[in-house]
This record gives sequence, structure tokens and C-alpha cells, in this order.
Amino acid sequence: MSFRLQPTPIARPNRCQLFGPGSNTKLFAKMAASAADVINLDLEDSVAPSDKDAARANIIQAISEYDWGNKTLSVRINSLDTPYWYKDVVDLLEQAGERLDQIMIPKVGCAEDIYAVDALVTAIEAAKGRTKKINFEVIIESAAGIAHVEEIAAASPRLVAMSLGAADFAASMGMQTTGIGGTQENYYMLRDGVKHWSDPWHWAQAAIVAACRTHGVLPVDGPFGDFSDDEGYIAQAKRSATLGMVGKWAIHPKQIALANQVFTPSEEDVTEAREILAAMEQAKANGEGATVYKGRLVDIASIKQAEVIVAQAELIANS
Ligand code: COA
Ligand code: MG
Repeated sequence: MSFRLQPTPIARPNRCQLFGPGSNTKLFAKMAASAADVINLDLEDSVAPSDKDAARANIIQAISEYDWGNKTLSVRINSLDTPYWYKDVVDLLEQAGERLDQIMIPKVGCAEDIYAVDALVTAIEAAKGRTKKINFEVIIESAAGIAHVEEIAAASPRLVAMSLGAADFAASMGMQTTGIGGTQENYYMLRDGVKHWSDPWHWAQAAIVAACRTHGVLPVDGPFGDFSDDEGYIAQAKRSATLGMVGKWAIHPKQIALANQVFTPSEEDVTEAREILAAMEQAKANGEGATVYKGRLVDIASIKQAEVIVAQAELIANS
């Protein structure tokens, strides 16, 4: 490894981020009572322009009014190309209670987008004497966002998480699809007349994971639009988990249990990881750097792989 060590991301579970429009106050109590690790109250694209002021006021009230338990409480503000975002930040930071943990900045295109919000947040925190520093999370959902993903991941010490937003991303890239994530009918390889589906989101996810891991940020998979398709959601989530993402959004409550299931290491995986660690302890005692576990090679790299699974399981168990 480079002498610059990979920073450790924030130690909290982020298996499921549940979204709800700030204009739909009926959902707030249900969101607070849900099993999601992160709650995202939305001011952006699920709120009509005529409802922005009301949604902002609803959210500010709800932050103090409901018992959000030990969940991470985040508000998605409007993007920097709108006339709404500055008021989202000013009103939230001036008026919302200290229970607010995080602001989600959508459609980021460069590091300066985060710098701008950081400057505003930092000034208001100082002016208002807020004791808890607000964290940031961002959505990569444009061509510029993915082109500048690494500088975005490095943009602020406040940044703790980064999601891929498949729908806006597809639109910005000019992709010919109206689906939000998942399998795309026209993205396939042909062999002997048989179609084999490929994953058009894969490269963007991998780029996000690499940028995030380089800078100690949690990589998260965004929405899966078809909430009647559990199998499709699970398949997408499993691919994301395999690539190194720690969680996925839910845009409907039925997706929460699916995300929690996929992003919680199974008992079987944890047992196997612990056995690999034990086998490597034994190898070390024998003066060996590599050994055999269930007929396959394990070595010092296997320790790090096993530790990822054990650490994730312990983080969830202790939360
Ligand atoms: N959080 C908590 N509860 C929710 C919810 C959410 N996001 N969405 C729906 N529910 C509740 C409903 O109120 C209903 O509760 P009830 O059984 O007590 O009546 C139950 O879950 C079933 O809801 P359902 O009737 O299947 O859905 P709906 O038609 O009420 O709502 C959506 C469907 C998609 C409009 C709604 O889920 C939603 O607004 N999702 C979030 C959209 C969003 O935030 N998008 C931005 C990020 S991409
Ligand atoms: Mg979007």
C-alpha cells in the first residue's frame, strides 16, 4: 500500500436509506418508526416547486418533533442549479434542532459545489453557536459528477457518504432508458443467439467505490424504482454489496427489509470469516504466511478480506 493509508469511514450502519417527501407529513411517523439506518427527508425532486417552502417548514418541525431513535437523520436539499438550495441550508441550519445529523447535496458536479455549501454551513454553525457539526452526503447523478468523482470524494472533511443516483445519471449521460436502476433490456451480449445481460451501472458504481474508499467515504447504492420487484431489488443490492457498497436507498418501506438483509453479513459468512482468521492465526504460529482453508489458499490478504466482514457484522450488532 501507498504510505498514505486508506482512511476509515464513519463507524455507523448505513444499510438502508429511507426517503420520503418533505411535503408528505403523513409519512414522517412511519419513517421514524422504520428499521432503516438512515432517514432522508426530501426537499428536492419528490417535492413540487410550489411546495418547497411548506416542505422546508415541515421538515424543520419534524426534526425536533419526532423520536428518530438512533437513526442517522439527513435532509436532501435542492441542487446548486436551483433558486432553492441556499434557503434550504440557511433555514435548516438556523432553525432546525441539533438532532439533524446530515445534509444530502444532490447532483454535485465538482468539488466546488461542496465547498460552497460547506462555507455557508460553517458560517451559520458559528453564528448560531451550533455545537454539533453537520455531516454531508452527496449524490453522483450526472456526467460531471462521475467525471469528477474523486475530487468530490475529497472535497470536505464533512463528507461521510456518496450515493449513485441512477435516474438522473442515466438522463445526464444520455442513456436510452427510463428505468431507475436494475437490468436494462437493451444492454446485453449475444452468444450463440442467447442474450446475456450485462450491468450498465457497474462501471459508475466501481468508480464511486474506489473514490470513496480512497477518501474514507461510505459508498451507497441509490434508488431502485420498481418497488413491486423484490427479486430485482435484491439482485441489484447483492451486486452493489459485492462491489463494496455498504447500503442502498429505499423509496418504499417494503424495500427496507430487503436492504437490511443483503447488507448485513450472513451468520454463515461471519462464521467463515472468523474461521479464516483462526486458520491464519494458526499459520502465523507455525511461521507460515499462507495456509489452506476448505481446500483453498488463504494468506495475509485473506485476513483483511475476512476482517471487512467481521467488522461490518460487529458494527451492525453494536449499533
Ligand atoms: N416511508 C414510510 N412509509 C411509507 C413510505 C415512505 N417513503 N411510502 C409509503 N409509505 C407507507 C404508506 O403511507 C402506507 O402506509 P399505511 O399502510 O399505513 O397506509 C404504506 O407504506 C404502503 O404504501 P403504498 O400505498 O404502497 O404506497 P403509496 O402509494 O402510499 O406511496 C410512493 C408510494 C412511491 C409515492 C411513496 O412510497 C413515496 O413517496 N416514496 C418516497 C419517494 C421519494 O422520497 N423519492 C425521492 C427519492 S428517489
Ligand atoms: Mg436525482
